[in-house]
Amino acid sequence: MHTIIEPFRIKMTEPIKLISAADRKKALQRAKHNVFLLDAEDCCIDLLTDSGTGAMSTEQWAALMLGDESYAGSKSWKKFEATVRKITGIKHIFPTHQGRAAEGILAQTRLKKGDVIPNNSHFDTTRANIEFVGARAVDLLCNEGYDTTLEAPFKGNMDINKLERCIAEFGAAKIPFCMITVTNNTGGGQPVAMENIRAVKTALKKYGIPLVIDACRFAENAYFIHEREAGYRGKTLLEIAREMFSYADAANMSCKKDGLANIGGFLICNDDAWAEDFRNALILREGFPTYGGLAGRDLEVIAVGLMEALDYDYQVYRHATVEYLGRKLLARGIPFVRPVGGHAVFLDAKAFLPHIPPRQYPGIGLVNALYLAGGIRSVELGSVMFGKKDERGREIPAPLELVRLAFPRRVYTQSHFDYLIEVLDEVWNNRKQIPGYRITYQPKFLRHFTCQFEIID
Ligand code: F0G
Repeated sequence: MHTIIEPFRIKMTEPIKLISAADRKKALQRAKHNVFLLDAEDCCIDLLTDSGTGAMSTEQWAALMLGDESYAGSKSWKKFEATVRKITGIKHIFPTHQGRAAEGILAQTRLKKGDVIPNNSHFDTTRANIEFVGARAVDLLCNEGYDTTLEAPFKGNMDINKLERCIAEFGAAKIPFCMITVTNNTGGGQPVAMENIRAVKTALKKYGIPLVIDACRFAENAYFIHEREAGYRGKTLLEIAREMFSYADAANMSCKKDGLANIGGFLICNDDAWAEDFRNALILREGFPTYGGLAGRDLEVIAVGLMEALDYDYQVYRHATVEYLGRKLLARGIPFVRPVGGHAVFLDAKAFLPHIPPRQYPGIGLVNALYLAGGIRSVELGSVMFGKKDERGREIPAPLELVRLAFPRRVYTQSHFDYLIEVLDEVWNNRKQIPGYRITYQPKFLRHFTCQFEIID
């Protein structure tokens, strides 16, 4: 078979540069050792996130010019609505400025103190929105999902027994809805099988609990189902996506991922009463229901992007890039979550840096080492992002200490990844010198974005 090539050519470029090692050191010190606080222009290859960082297609740039900026009922809204409905089949559609706005509206309108929301794994903003209203976010990921070295096709699945136990423990009345995140970002970008979504829905139906899909990477999940689940080879990704959404009562979406857009999101539902609440909250926070915090041109771009994300050749290429990095890591014995995820490779910082205890944040050690060695920006998904506190205020480490190398869509080429692998080699060979960190400042919520660190000698 020939090399799987980028299914596009490049018409516009954006310069990147590698500042000197001494300047990287100074920049990281200025950022208090938190890469979120770095200037983007000081990062050579920015793998902080795949969110809103993708490159638009010619079709999207053309659509941008068609943006109808009418306040209400614009043509762009009509296209957006029709596309979201075509993919999801869901009745009520509300645009939002990004995913967390949809989560916020969902949490504020449907949850109260003491409620419990199960998920395979909550993403940080989802968890924060739930906890902000006094409800509890519980993760019910299948056990396979916690074993970073196990090769299994659907490690993002929810454990149905854990779900049954959760409902038995808290009671259906305390569970206004259950979520499932496709793909499971927090747990290595691993997919969820159609069979699992169906089983979750069946389990919930007995208790009348609605299912909400966190759909940020729905197209990547559809691709995995196509490749890995029996019975889906002959189907298009659109057909698979439609089936996924057919089990959902509602969904929240960040169009910054599989909308192939730089901004945007939506919240959708079938229930008329939910829709009424969403609409009112939307008008208060985001804007009129036909634009929801977005410009008409954004709605245009998303309508095109959502369909491009369901293009099979695009997904083949996208997955080939992630696999490429995974194969190189495997050959070197560098520990990472296997198999590779849909949007990222997740390094296992606990195995990479066994000399750093979890309370000294091995993930931060690795993130900072990658920046210092080669100007690569990555992100910790470990105890800084997901750690909890016990009653005495002592930190309970997260179950996994991961470092995510997220792949912006259609942005970097193979030589960028070859360079990344060279940097990883260097960091791997010098890993014993990497220090642990302590936190010197942290805010109350979502601390990883703005907290500050110092090196532990
Ligand atoms: N749900 C999941 C699974 C996500 O990955 C994200 C964002 C959100 C919800 C919130 O969407 O950013 O548009 O408000 N994830 C990004 C990331 C930020 O880097 O993984 P948003």
